[in-house]
Amino acid sequence: MYDPLRGLRRGSSVSIVARRSDEWKIYLDDLKTRALGDLEKASDVEAAEAWRIAYLGRKGRLTHVLRGISELPPDQRPAAGKRANEIKADLTAALADKTAELKAAVLQAAEAEQLDVTLPGRSPPLGRLHLTTQTLREMYEIFARMGFQIFESPEVETDEYNFQLLNIPHGHPARDMWSSFYIEGTDDQVLLRTHTSPGQIHAMRRYAPEPIRVILPGKCYRYEQISPRYDIQFYQIEGLAVGEAITMADLKGTLIEFARQLFGRQVEARFRASYFPFTEPSAELDIECIICGGSGCRVCKHTGWLEILGAGMVHPVVLENGGYDPAQFSGFAFGMGVERPAMLKYGIEDIRYFLANDLRFLEQFG
Ligand code: PHE
Repeated sequence: MYDPLRGLRRGSSVSIVARRSDEWKIYLDDLKTRALGDLEKASDVEAAEAWRIAYLGRKGRLTHVLRGISELPPDQRPAAGKRANEIKADLTAALADKTAELKAAVLQAAEAEQLDVTLPGRSPPLGRLHLTTQTLREMYEIFARMGFQIFESPEVETDEYNFQLLNIPHGHPARDMWSSFYIEGTDDQVLLRTHTSPGQIHAMRRYAPEPIRVILPGKCYRYEQISPRYDIQFYQIEGLAVGEAITMADLKGTLIEFARQLFGRQVEARFRASYFPFTEPSAELDIECIICGGSGCRVCKHTGWLEILGAGMVHPVVLENGGYDPAQFSGFAFGMGVERPAMLKYGIEDIRYFLANDLRFLEQFG
């Protein structure tokens, strides 16, 4: 490494000072030349700062020289000190010029790119919640206000939970209502749940004999022909209330209030008798078609009504399977889709948009 003090040090092997009294001048000039040469090469502000540390820093080369002056013969010290200080001033000035030049170059480059560095940065685009998630959360809020808690249960179920414990034994014709995806190698004992109703059993077995009020949201799967109205994967939200003296009036009041909060207070709702093996009696809830206002259109198949959910009083067999004595306890349950009500609310024509991952669709909500 280049050492400006080589030969200046007392007792160093090459005692130049002893041979030529003005040797320090050559070293100082040489140091200056090298320093300026190095500074010239600095291509950015960081390099200029590294240069400052190397030459003018506390352990820098010039600082080193200045400290070594006291080692020169006394008659030469004043002149050497003066020269070294001049060089220090020169180098400091050169550094200031260089730094200004480098900063100007950066600004110029920015201007050339037409970059206004004073403009606030562009904020990265914020994502939003999927329409299904938004709808689910809206539903959770409505039911939460009525005292329902969320209870999660598995998407992969056994035949026992998905059917048998819900009063649908093997070979029961009602199984046709739920075309199923079975898991290979399980001898048709394990399947993707076809509805959220098996969660009723999980919740009851967890809480019996305490009264419960839960909603069970989640994905369900059915082996269906995909069309604008049906997909093989969709969301449901199940509701279950079990306690003493729960009646059909509780079911009706809860669900009508729910429909009003989701679709607007003016919405007309009606119950129709229906059949599900796990509820008795069973019903379906229709709302007046919110597209045509009840006069009849393509969406409501000219009936003026839209079906939004299935419901009923929990069947005594199901209560028993859940661990409740049907002589003492009763309950109601309901299950509805999530995409379908969202489609009605926003006039969406095809359920396949929900999983198509198309931003043009997704960005319209939220
Ligand atoms: N599980 C039923 C279905 O998927 C809906 C339902 C739930 C009906 C609870 C009654 C009670 O069609």
